[in-house]
Order: sequence, then structure tokens, then C-alpha cells
Amino acid sequence: MKSEIKNNILYFDGCDTVELAKKYGTPLYVMSETAIVEKCREIRDAFLNKHERTRAAYAGKAFLTLSMCKIIEREGLCMDVVSGGELYTAIKANFPPEKIELNGNNKSIEELELAIGYNIGRIIVDGLDELEIIESICKGKGTKTSILYRITPGVKSDSHDYIVTGKKDSKFGIPLDDEVIFPAIERAINSPYVNFMGFHFHVGSQLHNNDSHLKALETALKLIKDTIDKYNYVTPELNIGGGFGIKYTDEDDKKSYAYFLDPMMEKIDEFSKEQNIKRPEIVIEPGRSIVGEAGITLYTIGTIKDIKGIRKYVSVDGGMTDNIRPALYQAKYESIIANKAGMPNTDMVTISGKCCESGDILIKDANLASAERGDILAVFSTGAYGHSMASNYNKNPIPATLLVKDGKSEIIVKRQTYDHMIANEVIPESLI
Ligand code: LLP
Repeated sequence: MKSEIKNNILYFDGCDTVELAKKYGTPLYVMSETAIVEKCREIRDAFLNKHERTRAAYAGKAFLTLSMCKIIEREGLCMDVVSGGELYTAIKANFPPEKIELNGNNKSIEELELAIGYNIGRIIVDGLDELEIIESICKGKGTKTSILYRITPGVKSDSHDYIVTGKKDSKFGIPLDDEVIFPAIERAINSPYVNFMGFHFHVGSQLHNNDSHLKALETALKLIKDTIDKYNYVTPELNIGGGFGIKYTDEDDKKSYAYFLDPMMEKIDEFSKEQNIKRPEIVIEPGRSIVGEAGITLYTIGTIKDIKGIRKYVSVDGGMTDNIRPALYQAKYESIIANKAGMPNTDMVTISGKCCESGDILIKDANLASAERGDILAVFSTGAYGHSMASNYNKNPIPATLLVKDGKSEIIVKRQTYDHMIANEVIPESLI
């Protein structure tokens, strides 16, 4: 049990959250190692150990630090990165390069050089000019790299428009028009510089039904068949992406990994039998589902404004700078006053951040115990896309991140200081 209430105090992975706030300051990201490890175990049980020739590449964009790379490596997962910076972080944590996969819709030449230089496991090619760049880098280095093509399966997922990625009108993937995709496949098969491993799709994020995964799979299987028929080439791998939804509030009808993966694996097995081919190695890329519910954010409550008959604003010492998701996607969260955790929820309030934006609202209509200045507010399920999307707007420092486990806490990201924030700033001679 990662969170529990004892003597009106919220405990998270065995740690008294009020003590954590006192010791490390707020705002504070708190990640439960137990919860992350538990999710990795679920993935092993429901997928990796259940089916042979499978891999799970954690999508680092959800939350990536050196320590997180260590946990992911220890738990036997691969790593999916989407930028030179994420790749560099994984390499600095000594993550095995052959277990790293690079995604991204506009990889720079420098990023591709870095990836090929480190000899990473896979590059997921997102456009046709990218293949040309990869070929020329490999030619120069006298090496070969393994690639997949990310396809645009043309499905519309049921999630916020900003986080659906599989529809035809998308900046992601290679469109499936015959005159585009087939010459690309032929070129990759015949290229002396790449091993063409197959196809990749990712349909969207925070999904609670498997419709779009299944539709995209059908499209991918058809493409595998066409590739066999046209070129007598069996692609040895298929990457079916991530997107498995988590529980932020009671409105979220969270599903198990098995709910998404079992029917897909069944379809892939059936297809392979029909085609009389060895089933391709199957790769998934879960991000949010591994870290989302493993994280909470602690804040200190400051100003409280009761606008009679309208709304009570309870302000905290963070906001859209440490969690942009409510402002960007109207994402909903649940919270509790950590030092009044067992007390009845008597107040309906709006939790606002401290940024100079009316839209800097973390939770509209939160049902809380009566709040006072100095109380500690815990917001749940902030482990994914919180820290990784944090900003310095209003020159607010990025909070520290703690890793907690069985009552022990350790800093894994130090709190940014004012000096860190201006460290790269330069005053030109003309202004001195
Ligand atoms: N693979 C690819 C190619 C992706 O683009 C993504 C997410 C994932 C895997 C991992 O998806 P997940 O399992 O985490 O749903 N910032 C947004 C989410 C953007 C997701 C982008 N791609 C949010 O906070 O909701």
C-alpha cells in the first residue's frame, strides 16, 4: 500500500509526508520506488514473462532522471528516449546502449549522430528524409543501425486532442499512402546501412479503451503482410507503443495491462500462424502507467481567499510550473491536506498556483478538510509528465524530487536555486 493515513497524517511509501515537507521544503515531488517497481513487475507478469520475445521500453518522457534509469535497468526494461538530452541522461546513468530506442518526429542530425555513435538498439524512423540522414551517418562511420518505421495508422483515440497521435492528420509517423510507404520499405530492406526491423505505432496517451490499439494493429499487420507479399521480406519486430491510462480521479476507468495486451497478442499470434511466419518480437513503450500513480506533489498552503457566494481560492506555493497538465489539458487531480488527512472534507475549494496567470489552477472544486495557511497539500498521481514538463515561468525554481521507499527518503533531484536559474545568463558589454 503506497499511501495510507495514520493519526490524521498522510503516509506515502512508509514516509510521513508532513515530515518530508518540513525536512526538504515544498513544493516537492515525491516518487515511490515501491510503486514504480510494482508496475515493472506487473509488466513482467502480464507481458514479458507471459510471452517470449517481447520487450518493454519505458518511455522516459514521462519522468527521466539518472536514478530512474537505474531503476528501469534493474527491473529489466529497455528505455525509450526522444531527444539528445534524454539519450544523454540514459548514457550518463550507464544504461546499456543496446537497450535504448530513439523516437522523435524531428530528430536533428546531431541527435542521430549521437545515437548511432553510442550504437543504441533501435532508431524509430519518423520520416523519409530521416532514413537518408541515418544512411549517410552510417556510411561515414562504416556501421549499420537497426530501424523501425513509425507509421501513422490513421486512428482516432479517445483522449485529449493534444495527446492523440495516431490520426492521419498528425506530425508523427509516415503516412500510409502506397506511393509513400512502399518505396520507403523497399529502400530500407535494400539499404546496406540499416537493418529494417519492422513497424512502430503509438496511438495516444491516457487511454482507457483498446479500440484504437486494435485498429492500429490491424493496419500494421496488413502492412507486414503486404511487405511479405511484395518483397518476400518478413519484418522481425513490431512496436505497439504505450498509452495505457492511469487513475487520476474516480472518473478514470483504469484498465489492466492485460486488457490492452492480451487481445493484441492473440491477434498477432493468429496472424503469424496464418502467414506461416515466426511471430515478430513485440515491443511496448509504457511511460505514464509506470510512474504516474507512483508520484505525489507536496505543497504548502498560503493565501486563502473566500469570495463570498462565488469561490474559495486556496493557493499553494507551486502550480503550472511544476504541473502544467491542468492548464494544458484540463487534467483533473485529487488532493488531500496531508496534516489533516483523516478529518472530514467540509470545504469545496479551488486550488490555485502562484503564477501570474488566471489559468494557473491545479484543481477546480476540490473537496477538502478546512484549509489554513501552513497546511501541507498532497496532490496524487503526479509522477508522470509533471517533473518532465516543469518550467521556470515567473522564475520559479523547479522543485526537488525525492525517492521514497519503506519509510526512507532520498533526494534524486536537488531543488533548483535562484543561482541555477540565472547560471546561463550573460550581460553583454553594452549593458554593463
Ligand atoms: N511512445 C511514444 C512514441 C510516445 O509518443 C509516447 C507518449 C509514449 C510511448 C508513452 O505514452 P504513455 O504510456 O506515457 O501514455 N504530456 C502528455 C503526454 C504526452 C505523451 C506523448 N507521447 C500528458 O501529460 O498527458
